[in-house]
Order: sequence, then C-alpha cells, then structure tokens
Amino acid sequence: MTTWRKSIWLTVLAAGVLTASCQSSPRDSTTAAPPVAPPIPLPAPSETKPRDYPGIHNAVAYHENFVSGSAPDGDTGFDTLQHMGVKTIISVDGAVPEVDKAKARGMRYIHLPIGYNGFDEQRKLELVRATSDAMTQGPVYIHCHHGKHRSAGAAACIAASLGWETAPEAVERMKVSGTAPNYTGLYAAASSATMIDATALERLPAHFPEVSKPTGFVQGMIEIDEVTEHLKAIEKSGWQPPPDHPDLVPVAEAGRLADLFRQLRALDAAKRRPPDFDAMMQESNRHAQALEDMLASADRDNAKLSATFKLVAASCKDCHAGYRD
Ligand code: HEC
Repeated sequence: MTTWRKSIWLTVLAAGVLTASCQSSPRDSTTAAPPVAPPIPLPAPSETKPRDYPGIHNAVAYHENFVSGSAPDGDTGFDTLQHMGVKTIISVDGAVPEVDKAKARGMRYIHLPIGYNGFDEQRKLELVRATSDAMTQGPVYIHCHHGKHRSAGAAACIAASLGWETAPEAVERMKVSGTAPNYTGLYAAASSATMIDATALERLPAHFPEVSKPTGFVQGMIEIDEVTEHLKAIEKSGWQPPPDHPDLVPVAEAGRLADLFRQLRALDAAKRRPPDFDAMMQESNRHAQALEDMLASADRDNAKLSATFKLVAASCKDCHAGYRD
C-alpha cells in the first residue's frame, strides 16, 4: 500500500472510531478529561404533550422535578435520567428494576409494583411517603413499562395526595400521559385522592425495597390461569365486565396477562429453558399485549378481540405440549 493510501485509510479508521465512540456513550469520549455531560432539562408541569428523550419515552411532569415515563431503555435511558439530575427512580412495574445501572450513575431505585386496576390504600401511602422523602434529594422519576397507564395513575395520585395539584388537575395530567379511559381503577385512584397531612405521612415506615420479590414461575402460571379465566368471562359478556363479576376491567386484565408473561420471562426458571421456550413466552406476551391495546382503544371489534384471544390460548397449549404435559 502506498503511503497516501495508508494515510487515507488511517483517517477513515480514526473517523469511524470517533463516530462509534460518540454513538455508544459520551462518557467513552477520549477528548475531554472530566466527563461533563450536558444537562438535559426535565419536562415542565405546564407542558401539554409527552416528551421523548434517548431511552426515555412518554415523559410527563406531574410537578416540578417529578416526572412519569417509560422504563429506562438500557444504558442510554439511564444516562438520560442522570443528565436530567434525577436522584431517585421509583418503579411501579412488576419487572425487576435494573438497580446496578441506576447505582452506577448515583441514582437510587425504589420498587413498589402496582396493578393495572389501581392499588390499595397501603401501597398508595407507601408511594406518597417514598416520593415525599425522595424529593428532598433531587428530581424523582417514576415509571412502569410504557409509562402511559400505571406510572401515570400513581404519579397523579401522589401529586394530589401531596397537595401539588388538585385531583381534577392530576387527572388532566394522566390524559397528557395518554392513559386510556378504560383504566377506570387508575383514574379512580387519582380522582379520589385527597391531601394527606404531614403528620400522617410521618407515621408511615420510611424504608422501601429497591427490588420487590418477583412472583415464582408456578405461582405466575396460576395467576396467568386466573386472569385467562377472567378474560373468558369477559369475552362471554361481549368483551364487557361480566354481570356477576362487575369489578373486572377488561383492559386491566389483558394488561396484567401481558405483564405476567413479561415478568416470568425474566425468571431464572424460564432462562434455564431452551431458546424456543423464551420465544413462546414472547409470543404469548405479544398476543396479550395486542389484546390490551385493542381493549384500550375507543373503537373495538369483538370478532378481532376474540381472534386475538384465541391466539393467546393457542400459545398456552403450544408451550404446555412441549414443556409441561
Ligand atoms: C412458554 C411456555 C408456557 C406458556 C406460553 C404458558 N405456560 Fe403454563 N406452564 C408452563 C410450564 C413449564 C408449566 C409447569 C411449571 C412447573 O410445574 O414447574 C406451566 C404450568 C401451568 C399451570 C399449572 C400451575 C400449577 O398449579 O402447577 C397452569 C394452570 C398454566 N400453566 C396455565 C397457563 C395458561 C392459561 C397459559 C396461557 C394463557 C400458559 N400457561 C402459558 C409453561 C407455559
């Protein structure tokens, strides 16, 4: 190779390396000595549209320095939160949080999972106390999986309970997050929230887990079975709450089903299985998620709902045939 060719090659290579390192992480950059990351402004409570950032989606502020959104997507998502100055991350999702990624960036996790159909008084008080304490350390980010339904419901309930906004204002914020109206339990948690006085908060325990114990595999299957029975009853009533079980919220049941498959995939009992096992779990999760999305949307088609539910049921049979029966 001639010298000029070599030098062109070296230039191309160097450019490639630089581009690659910039894309992977600004902290890997070889140029500046101290890793001064550009600060990322948090969304403001006055904004009427959710914001997307690298690795963080559907971010909506429920108060100054208190933001609801999606689960951080890998290192990029955690980098974004760090550059926003977030000090505490609260997960209300069932999945085990990535505690190490948060810790490595000086952030703390609090894990208080909630259901798709709301949460009880105890969990509400825990969420309120945890947030109120955490806010003294810096901005708080609260997330579920997509950051549209559960984290929005929790954030609204917390904001109204701490007197940051009225219950109707908090409910309006949920609409900004895009919480579907069918999540009646989540909307009820926010609309019924009233200010909790400081002395009542003081009496609550102040220690919260960074990881709540996940459901075991067999226990998870039993729950999956229960939710599937609920959905069968819902289907029989034309995809409406069954008359003899009016507390069942169709979209919440489908959401719970999708969540359970996602949660069980992460368990060691599932990871030890061959790869096609995980592929089947993913398949079941996808169909359940599709069912949830359809039930959340305004115009529903019962025939399509039933067809999708059939796919879920078929996916149970497929896996059991190879791995259980
Ligand atoms: C990807 C694989 C897979 C899928 C999908 C799956 N299951 Fe299972 N399921 C299993 C395995 C494996 C077991 C046995 C677990 C054990 O005993 O360790 C099981 C066990 C069960 C059990 C028995 C639990 C007990 O009491 O021991 C029920 C009920 C069940 N599944 C229901 C369902 C339903 C309903 C669906 C679909 C909505 C479903 N499963 C989807 C793998 C799967």
